[in-house]
Amino acid sequence: MSEPPYSPGLAGVIAGETTIGCVDQGKLLYRGYTIQDLAETVCFEEVAHLLLFESLPNAGELETVKQSLANYRPLPVPLISALRAIPNDVPMMDVLRSMVSFTSHFDPIEGHDEAANRQRALWLTAQIGGIIAARYRLLNGQEPLSPKDGLSHAAQILYQCHGEIPDALSEELIDLSLVLYAEHDFNASTFTGRVICSTLSDIVSGVTGAIGALKGPLHGGANEAAMEMLARFKSAEEASSWITQALANKEKVMGFGHRVYKQGDHRAVILEEKLRKLAAQKGEETWMAIYDAIKKPMTEEKKIYPNVDYPCGLTYFLLGLPLDLYTPLFVASRVTGWSAHILEQARNNRIYRPLSIYKGPKARPVPPISER
Ligand code: SDX
Repeated sequence: MSEPPYSPGLAGVIAGETTIGCVDQGKLLYRGYTIQDLAETVCFEEVAHLLLFESLPNAGELETVKQSLANYRPLPVPLISALRAIPNDVPMMDVLRSMVSFTSHFDPIEGHDEAANRQRALWLTAQIGGIIAARYRLLNGQEPLSPKDGLSHAAQILYQCHGEIPDALSEELIDLSLVLYAEHDFNASTFTGRVICSTLSDIVSGVTGAIGALKGPLHGGANEAAMEMLARFKSAEEASSWITQALANKEKVMGFGHRVYKQGDHRAVILEEKLRKLAAQKGEETWMAIYDAIKKPMTEEKKIYPNVDYPCGLTYFLLGLPLDLYTPLFVASRVTGWSAHILEQARNNRIYRPLSIYKGPKARPVPPISER
């Protein structure tokens, strides 16, 4: 019998079927809609409905989603106390991992069937936005703010961070980032959630595990790592000499490359166009010169292209957000994609259990302890 196929990192291996997202070099679809069309025409709440309820909402359904998010937003009082107890130097991604798990002890949703888990996904989406903002304010010595009626999800997160209604451009760019980050088929964190829930474990366990996976700088953590890299440089010249050395040392440059996209990430193209306008509007051309100084040799010499995290880091930075918020904002969006995949896994489940190639010692007798 021939050896089963082995592919490190499951590269190129098909691990399941999905109707949620289609990721390939030619297109990125959310349930058949191109990311280009979605980015231009819908808000994050509409994407959340598309992913969780399998269709773009009509006006009434959109209102219902917004009202559900509003109803689910208030944080449990014990959660605020728990947030106060977490040391200030704990990264926000670690806080999110703990607090998503903690808030599940105050889960208001009855039952665990598909309809209940759809509501639980909306509840988690609302809670995660509030946890991020509450932590942000406590770190700044301020009391957490209650949600303000009538704001979009993007505006609500910014309002609960800063205590003021965001300007239209900030709301538009945060909402766009939430649309772009929401779904990406069997990426590492989504696959983590599917594996966890393939054992018939619960959606909160799946989302908590997915947060752990997304934190890594090879995955969602790259938006913070990419901005940390750019922030080292005062000029494009400095960035150019650094990237030359980095490529000579075969260093991984954060925000570039992708397992699927080898000719560029559709989302990076969309976001970079908005980033350039934002930088011009704010007179931040130097940052764009530094950004391009890194991008140019990566794309022209290495043929390794920006992924969504590269423009996203600088976009959040120019909007005045601290680095520690960047990957949590990715979570605030991707929780909808994770949840949609967890619901899909439950419909046609088989527990994930791949094989491995054993490279350890051959079978051998156990020596008595006197001989060890
Ligand atoms: C996300 O999967 C998804 O869909 C993820 C995501 C989503 O929406 O869920 O799109 C979000 O995670 C985007 C990726 C964010 N990560 C980074 O920006 C970190 C830097 N990127 C690399 O670590 C890497 O490109 C990965 C992890 C993204 C992809 O890894 P692969 O597919 O395993 O590619 P590889 O590491 O095998 O690289 C192939 C070659 C290697 O060269 P050789 O060793 O063969 O000579 O390309 C080189 C790599 O060294 N390479 C890079 C590079 N990425 C690949 N060289 C320098 N800098 C890089 N960023």
